[in-house]
Amino acid sequence: MNVGIIGAGHIAEKAAWTLKVMDDMQCLAVGSRSLEKAQDFAAKYGIPRAYGSYADLLADPDVDLVYIATPHSHHFAVTRDAILAGKACLVEKSFMANVRETAEILSLAKEKGVLVAEAIWTRYLPVQDMAREIIASGLIGKPYLYSATLSYEISAKERVLKPELCGGALLDLGVYGLNFVRMFCASPVVATSSHCIKFPTGVDASETITLEMEDGSMACIQTSALCQGENTGSISGTAGCLIFDDVNSPRRLSVYQKGHVLVKEFEAPGQITGFEYQFRACRDAMAAGLLETPQMPHSEILYIMEQMDRLRASWGVRFPMD
Ligand SMILES: NC(=O)c1ccc[n+]([C@@H]2O[C@H](COP(=O)([O-])OP(=O)(O)OC[C@H]3O[C@@H](n4cnc5c(N)ncnc54)[C@H](OP(=O)(O)O)[C@@H]3O)[C@@H](O)[C@H]2O)c1
Repeated sequence: MNVGIIGAGHIAEKAAWTLKVMDDMQCLAVGSRSLEKAQDFAAKYGIPRAYGSYADLLADPDVDLVYIATPHSHHFAVTRDAILAGKACLVEKSFMANVRETAEILSLAKEKGVLVAEAIWTRYLPVQDMAREIIASGLIGKPYLYSATLSYEISAKERVLKPELCGGALLDLGVYGLNFVRMFCASPVVATSSHCIKFPTGVDASETITLEMEDGSMACIQTSALCQGENTGSISGTAGCLIFDDVNSPRRLSVYQKGHVLVKEFEAPGQITGFEYQFRACRDAMAAGLLETPQMPHSEILYIMEQMDRLRASWGVRFPMD
């Protein structure tokens, strides 16, 4: 399984490092808008082929899976080109700018018989299955409250600030909170209330989001691109509370019951960076002839994108492609 990386930026480095350490998949090529940048990146991570355009990488017949690590604003065009070149795609979160782009890409992928997945890496971690098993075991009873916080001080990043790059805290960080809730609560959202403050550029800088689900449960999500957050998660049920020490990459899950008594702790399995699971999920789905990964099916990609479109509309945060 040969992976090609498109966009030699910050997160591509983490993906390249992960693939370098993995012994069951490899990064064959990197494509950048600059050949020099691609060559430097390839040299750093021992990648055999470097291309000075995305089109050149897509024309490489040995690339099986393309990992798209451009800003959100550029996911659509690059993914479209990749599908038309017959390449399976793993597209960084947030998947697209909006629902319209998402629906178009998913339908094109189906038409062309190409796998397309979202690199929302948290969905693929085995620790999430552990958490689901803990909930199913009844240790915390019936869940009624979900809480997720995720904040980083990334306010100087162009990609986060500019509407034309689909900036804002929601598509960058809030998307993880929405996925956290949805991973453990399949009940549909029936009501949403939220508040955001914006950067002077007009995109959201910080937000709080409250969701009400059909099954009577609720969720609170806090996200900011202005500060370093505690970044924990929790699920509270009738018998206890399950705490995630890190909402995105939990190393430890702890169960507390009445009186704040710690009754059980679970360690997450070891990992390289955690990104390896999303790559393996694509490989396994392709081997099984699937066009989506079971961990993040297309219906879920759409569901999360619909929530983000609604939130942005309520805040008046618009991208040029909306
Ligand atoms: N999974 C995670 O933990 C995680 C963390 C951070 C970000 N992300 C996601 O990864 C994606 C990229 O984020 P990043 O932080 O890696 O961004 P970044 O450092 O700015 O890199 C993005 C890369 O995209 C390419 N690009 C193409 N058109 C561009 C344009 N008009 N402006 C800027 N760059 C352009 C550039 O690569 P070339 O110059 O080589 O063409 C650039 O290096 C986003 O979707 C983001 O949400 C995921």
